[in-house]
Amino acid sequence: MDFDLKKQLQRHPGLAAIYEKAAADIAAAETEAALEAARVRHLGRKSELSRMLRAIPGMSPSERPLAGKLGNQARAAVEQALAGRRQALESEALDRRLAEERVDITLPGEPFPNGRLHLITQTLWEIEDIFTGLGYRIAEGPEIETDYYNFTALNTPEGHPARSLHDTFFIEGEAEALLRTHTSPVQIRVMEKEDPPVYVIIPGRVYRRDSDATHTPMFHQVEGLAVDERITMADLKGTLEAFAKAMFGAERQIRLRPHYFPFTEPSVEVDVSCMICGGEGCRSCKQSGWLEILGAGLVDPNVFGFVNYEPDEVTGFAFGMGVERIAMLKHGVTDLRMFYDNDLRFIKQF
Ligand code: PHE
Repeated sequence: MDFDLKKQLQRHPGLAAIYEKAAADIAAAETEAALEAARVRHLGRKSELSRMLRAIPGMSPSERPLAGKLGNQARAAVEQALAGRRQALESEALDRRLAEERVDITLPGEPFPNGRLHLITQTLWEIEDIFTGLGYRIAEGPEIETDYYNFTALNTPEGHPARSLHDTFFIEGEAEALLRTHTSPVQIRVMEKEDPPVYVIIPGRVYRRDSDATHTPMFHQVEGLAVDERITMADLKGTLEAFAKAMFGAERQIRLRPHYFPFTEPSVEVDVSCMICGGEGCRSCKQSGWLEILGAGLVDPNVFGFVNYEPDEVTGFAFGMGVERIAMLKHGVTDLRMFYDNDLRFIKQF
């Protein structure tokens, strides 16, 4: 307590007692709530001090000045004691929190698990690397396509048997819109925009109404398109052989089998010599020594007609491969659906 006040209060034992009691009570308050209760007790309307101050006007003129002066001083001193104690409690609380919440920076950190690229992404990037190394650019197109780009401009008019209806996802209420069933429509989009020569690969998602161990309703393709003067089947074969060796190993060979696609003529299916048995024949290649990896062919002149390229001036080849299939063959994955189960035990193996 203020020494001066103490001396003063000695002249009024009643006030001195009131003050001493309040000060002791405040000093003993261990919580904010206890402190607030002490405030009400000692400064509230019903407190001894307040009652005493209210009684001053009725005192005798000889008592009144001293009681008034000391009463107000005592009140100010109690308020000061409250404020001081409140601050002390707050800083104690802060000290406690700082001690409790202290972070020990010498402890080792929490391990942060590393993610990894999905095998399909890895395979896509690998294919892209091989073809960009051969001078191809990457082009992309929309996954929601129109009937025109997905079929008609690819020499597949309405009513053509290749439009096997059950394979395509159409969009309700949209006569023209569908989910592209292959990346080939981007061939058209690229040729509409650019004059030959064109050397592009087109990676992307495609959709078909199909689901079993070797089909998922969504899968990935990489399309290839080369249009230039005097492109021949030999260019196609050389390019795909270079790809097969880069992807599956330098010992790999390829073979072309006649096939049919509406937008290539002639069309082929391309096999790679089995990387499991080296071509001897095993379970994976069904004893044939060969594994099918993609479809291809020379661009049908009718397709050039749709994009105003001159079939007399340029020729081209195109190919399309399923990325999941390539990844399955390369890594011995037996069920395509595993790519999309998102089971980390599977994904972490690659
Ligand atoms: N678009 C064909 C398919 O999805 C593949 C293909 C592409 C064939 C280019 C020939 C040329 O089956």
